[in-house]
Amino acid sequence: MVDAKKLQTPLRAGVMGWPVDHSLSPKVHGFWLRQFGLAGDYIRIPVKPQDFCDRLKNLKKDGFIGGNVTVPHKQTALAQVDEADPLAQRIGAVNTIIVREDGTLYGLNTDGFGFLENLYQGHATFKAKTGPAVILGAGGAARAVIVALLEAGAPEIRLLNRTKARANQLAEEFSGLGSGKIIVGEWDNRSDYLNDANLLVNTTTLGMKGQQPLTIDLEVLPKTALVNDIVYVPLETDLLARARARGNPVVDGLGMLLHQARPGFEAWFGRMPDVSDALRAFVLSEQS
Ligand code: ATR
Repeated sequence: MVDAKKLQTPLRAGVMGWPVDHSLSPKVHGFWLRQFGLAGDYIRIPVKPQDFCDRLKNLKKDGFIGGNVTVPHKQTALAQVDEADPLAQRIGAVNTIIVREDGTLYGLNTDGFGFLENLYQGHATFKAKTGPAVILGAGGAARAVIVALLEAGAPEIRLLNRTKARANQLAEEFSGLGSGKIIVGEWDNRSDYLNDANLLVNTTTLGMKGQQPLTIDLEVLPKTALVNDIVYVPLETDLLARARARGNPVVDGLGMLLHQARPGFEAWFGRMPDVSDALRAFVLSEQS
């Protein structure tokens, strides 16, 4: 909780990344600070990989109460914090840092929380337990998604990645969370794994503005399966548009970014915010 003394001086948090110019986090936290009428501040902190450890050590001295960590620092952050939440350890990355009174750093990972909360908000009847999940991609974003789904009771994860060795590595790393539940498939035959699926998630960069399109035939995907794309530029990706057109429920990727920000805001500023239509509209607007 925030004490009265702290409230007299603006509390400062920020996002460390490289590059960080396009991060939407300052808009998200700025919106909530204004909504709650709090005297706080959340800024972009461009940090090159070689400077990250020093910048992290100096957070308290530089007046920060915490912050977010984004690409490419999330795995380094896990190794550098004084203490990491067990979930962050399981995911293998830290995206949220709390600077404690004594200056030590506590690391959390809220990406899995953000991923699931986005699905629950966008499709209230979604349950991971209902059936297999098909995950496209085995990069940084896939880590939190896989751990979150396994911990929410998904009976099977079908993991498909262009570079199969990366998918095998994740399956091996997460085998302790659900032995045999992660099945690594063939990227080239990705459409064949959609049979009986309860969920399809794209965690690759395919379909993002400026990137190659994601090609996948949805024919065997059950119409009840929820389809989610981590990509949110554009908001309605080709995958989501095609899934929606054939009657599948869809959830876009912006909500994951918004929901993952909530626990950090609560830890730093003492209030748990929600993800409203007004927040989404503001984040999508040109305003800053
Ligand atoms: P992030 O941290 O956002 O997940 P990343 O670690 O660079 O980013 O992972 C990007 C994902 O998109 C990976 O799964 C990557 O596949 P590889 O592991 O084979 O690189 C996937 N990806 C990127 N470009 C791709 C392409 N042209 N075709 C197929 N998959 C692609």
